[in-house]
Amino acid sequence: MNQTLNVALGERSYPIHIGCGVLTDAELVLPHLKQKNAVVVTNMTVAPLYLDALRSTLEKGGVSVLPVILPDGERYKTWETLNLIFDALLGAHCERNTTLIALGGGVIGDMGGFAAACYQRGMPFIQVPTTLLSLVDSSVGGKTAINHPLGKNMIGAFYQPKLVLADLSTLDTLPDRELQAGLAEVIKYGLIRDPDFFIWLESNIDKLLARDKTALAYAVHRSCSNKAEVVAADERESGERALLNLGHTFGHAIETGMGYGVWLHGEAVAAGTLIAAELSFRLGWLSAETVQRIEKLFIQAGLPVQGPALGAARYLELMSHDKKVQDGKLRLVLLKEIGKAVMSDEAGKELIRAAIEARCT
Ligand code: NAD
Ligand code: GLY
Repeated sequence: MNQTLNVALGERSYPIHIGCGVLTDAELVLPHLKQKNAVVVTNMTVAPLYLDALRSTLEKGGVSVLPVILPDGERYKTWETLNLIFDALLGAHCERNTTLIALGGGVIGDMGGFAAACYQRGMPFIQVPTTLLSLVDSSVGGKTAINHPLGKNMIGAFYQPKLVLADLSTLDTLPDRELQAGLAEVIKYGLIRDPDFFIWLESNIDKLLARDKTALAYAVHRSCSNKAEVVAADERESGERALLNLGHTFGHAIETGMGYGVWLHGEAVAAGTLIAAELSFRLGWLSAETVQRIEKLFIQAGLPVQGPALGAARYLELMSHDKKVQDGKLRLVLLKEIGKAVMSDEAGKELIRAAIEARCT
């Protein structure tokens, strides 16, 4: 059965429909289109799997569809690829009321959303996520971006979608490694603000790995519900929303330092979360047992708990580009306990260096 959540942002509020088959339900999508045409931005992997189904859904309402099929991969989350979207939009004389639909994982969602934010200063935008990570995180909340060689997601905009269609059936074709990567962001919600969910995950991680639909529906709904609450309270990340970046400062350093796409985003976030937990332990906030409990869940989820040995100096250099740096000072999301994250600048460089060295061998 489908479930619907609302992201409460005043006149920019929007629904998230979660369930099996929501991307083929014309009644969910057609009322959101202002014109009888739409651009579907997707990639070479996802197009053969789901483009026809989405196109048929739209055509039921007489909507003509322009597909834009991009190369697949984090390394293509660039200006050059973004420009391919603009080439297609301009080539087809798309207007500012044409809707752009992003069909794919977080890379497509982030690039499609950024293109929609920029084209004619903003066109309507719909997210149809097809990876676990994009279902539980990137499709909700309006962060859009591309990468720069010096830093992840450094060029972008806040731009909310009009609708999110979170179709659990798309997870049937997702490779195991990608499913596991998505679990890193699911576990994140338990760690930062939902301790009961963390406990639920400890008991149900095997069901999620086995793609049990009831367990997946519960985890996606609970994750999106957490994210919707945080975004509604702090859309532009002036406070609480920054906590959603647990593990990301270290994780982005891993992704950039290794070369985009070598470590999956979720894998880098998993290792980054353990570095943050290690640092929280060294600050005297977490016990060794709690760090072990966190580590155990990530290991059960098939995720790395050690970062690559880039060297602490290289990590610190890469981390100096983090968006949370304020007045030149690094601020990190750390843990006081399972279910309680804080933003802190209390850890000095030496302590951070020690935590990196302990966790990145
Ligand atoms: P991704 O978009 O690269 O997708 C992973 C892989 O799975 C790709 O090869 C893709 O083509 C393939 N794929 C997608 N759906 C599939 C399906 N149903 N079946 C088979 N294959 C499928 O990676 P991701 O993990 O979805 O997203 C990671 C990106 O999201 C990163 O760039 C990260 O920065 C971004 N992100 C953004 C936010 C945000 O708030 N905007 C939050 C978290 C992550
Ligand atoms: N994924 C972090 C955020 O949306 O704020």
